[in-house]
Amino acid sequence: MRRSVDEKLRIELFNPSHSDDLFKLIQANRDHFGEWLEFPYHTHTVNDASAFIAGTIQKQAAGNGGWCGIWLEDQLVGAIGFVHINRMDQTTEIGYYLAQEYEGQGIISRCCREIIKYVFEELGLHRIEIRVHPDNTRSRNIPERLGFVQEGILRQAERFVDRYMDKVIYGLLKEEWNPGL
Ligand SMILES: CC(C)(COP(=O)(O)OP(=O)(O)OC[C@H]1O[C@@H](n2cnc3c(N)ncnc32)[C@H](O)[C@@H]1OP(=O)(O)O)[C@@H](O)C(=O)NCCC(=O)NCCS
Repeated sequence: MRRSVDEKLRIELFNPSHSDDLFKLIQANRDHFGEWLEFPYHTHTVNDASAFIAGTIQKQAAGNGGWCGIWLEDQLVGAIGFVHINRMDQTTEIGYYLAQEYEGQGIISRCCREIIKYVFEELGLHRIEIRVHPDNTRSRNIPERLGFVQEGILRQAERFVDRYMDKVIYGLLKEEWNPGL
């Protein structure tokens, strides 16, 4: 899957040739990503990035979602995924992260719009979730901006290093989706 978001920005499913770029992105943003996400604590070498990509390709082949790199011209600046596809219930969850120096330009909101379109129109799913730590305001703004409904708080739903984090759960149904938002 490869989609142009605008003339300079595109999303593209990770493949093994992206391992070096992914590792560099994580190295350069270790503290930034690590404030809310656990994967930087498990990514120490380019082989770890490579293993992550191999795992996502396997899941993708099994029809269980995928992770795309976010490319600004030739630079990998972030990632966005549609994960945990449940075919029985026709649901998935979106996750994302962006290099600190590119925040505040609407990059993730715009990439989310492309993924939402892909999930509803091409995968034919009917519900998308986004789960965010209650204090991660910048991330909460994204589902709120895109018309997701805040449905509740999942208590201690995700393990994070040495503790469990609560998650605010946002949901968007296909019939609620407004591509103009
Ligand atoms: C959370 C995170 C992904 C946000 O990325 P982002 O690209 O800055 O988010 P958005 O796409 O919502 O951008 C919003 C900002 O761009 C501005 N913007 C400019 N053009 C825009 C457009 N076309 N659409 C939307 N917002 C736009 C908004 O006004 C807003 O500015 P502000 O931050 O000054 O209020 C990023 O901060 C990050 O990776 N954080 C660390 C990891 C993380 O928390 N991941 C999520 C875990 S749940």
